Amino acid sequence: MRFRINGQQKLTGTIRVSGAKNSILPIIAATILSNEVCVIDNVPRISDVDTMLEILRSVGGSVAWTGGHQLTISNKNLEPQPLDMKLVKRLRASVLFLGPFLARFQSFRLPEPGGCIIGNRPLDSHLEGLSALGCRWERTPESYEVSHKGLRGTDVVLREASVTATENIIMAACAARGTTRIINAASEPHVQDLIDFLTNMGADISGGSTSTVTIKGSDSFGGARHTVIPDPIDAGTYIILALASKSKITVTDIRLDHLEVVLETLRSMGAEFDRDERSIMINQTGTLKAAKIETRIYPGIPTDLQPLFGVLATQAHGTSLIHETLFESRLGYLSELEKMGASVLISDAHRAYVTGPTPLNGRAIVCRDLRAGASLVVAALIASGETTIENAQILDRGYEKIDEHLSEIGASITREE
Ligand code: EPZ
Repeated sequence: MRFRINGQQKLTGTIRVSGAKNSILPIIAATILSNEVCVIDNVPRISDVDTMLEILRSVGGSVAWTGGHQLTISNKNLEPQPLDMKLVKRLRASVLFLGPFLARFQSFRLPEPGGCIIGNRPLDSHLEGLSALGCRWERTPESYEVSHKGLRGTDVVLREASVTATENIIMAACAARGTTRIINAASEPHVQDLIDFLTNMGADISGGSTSTVTIKGSDSFGGARHTVIPDPIDAGTYIILALASKSKITVTDIRLDHLEVVLETLRSMGAEFDRDERSIMINQTGTLKAAKIETRIYPGIPTDLQPLFGVLATQAHGTSLIHETLFESRLGYLSELEKMGASVLISDAHRAYVTGPTPLNGRAIVCRDLRAGASLVVAALIASGETTIENAQILDRGYEKIDEHLSEIGASITREE
């Protein structure tokens, strides 16, 4: 599928942010801990959710959309059969079935996960943490076989504050005998949202917003109702679009406390916006200044917004440093921006210098991963002339109806299958 975009249209209006992709994905997996019904609201209509639900159905989970953004899930008929390899390969987040399956059953075969090629993304921290809880694992050519004879609570020290590893270990520790402490746990908003959901199911978890999370195991969990937090990456994407295109746009239904460092960095670049408790009103008229953009684990600048800061830097006066400290190959989108006229100097696998402002011209470009794709859409909207973006179906993995949202504020964007 490709997007065809005519740039430099006048954009104005309001965009409502959808529920957080990286919250709902672990929460769908966490429903496995209970046989009772879970009802989840503010679920984004994105293809990663569809894939996770397809995987859950394939092992006996019953899943229904009971509202435009509401899921009702019940796993009382779940069977411990191996997951469908081709489904799992489509989605990196399928790794999140590891923890809950081990909490409920004694073994699990995890096919080598797929997903965005943005770096090595090893599973070591997942497997080391689960081993500490009493699991044994071995690697076959295309999967990991993990098993245990009863999970036992213990101290788990993560060498890296890996988001999905933290989530997997929390979900397994919920069913372990005794208490588990995770030291160096990730504390992203979506990790906290998962902890809230598990707590609603009856789990005993403390320390959710710190780097040490304590879980007291128990042997049964109830169903739960939960509303997914707004997606901070969705919000950041549309805020940066408004700034780069110097548009008057309101981005609403945001959790501002999840974006403080992002907003402060944008303000230091000269961004002009007002805020109330759930919205940001952008009305960018002045010029933007270059900045030093370094991605960090929460609460620093999230790596998922790095490509958006990259395209913003092409419109800022001066030379910006884009330093992607987490992933070693998440700068690829900059070569597509160069084709459009951006001035980029790649220094190494983690660092690039972007000098602006440079006018961007419409080109035929290619989307490589989800957030890179978002950056290319922003570039196309501010470029002169027409841009086509191939592989644009990748955007549907993480952004709900992005072309409809953009058309509603005046963009000229068409979807061509
Ligand atoms: C999760 O992936 C997200 N996916 C990613 O979002 C996100 O980019 C990533 O966390 C980082 O925030 C989901 O939640 C489903 P990691 P995950 O294990 O868990 C290095 C998107 O577009 N690292 O936290 O696989 C680590 O070595 C996706 O929504 C450090 O260097 O990511 C690995 O290379 C893309 N230091 C990379 O970061 C640390 O302290 C990601 O690690 C922690 C991690």
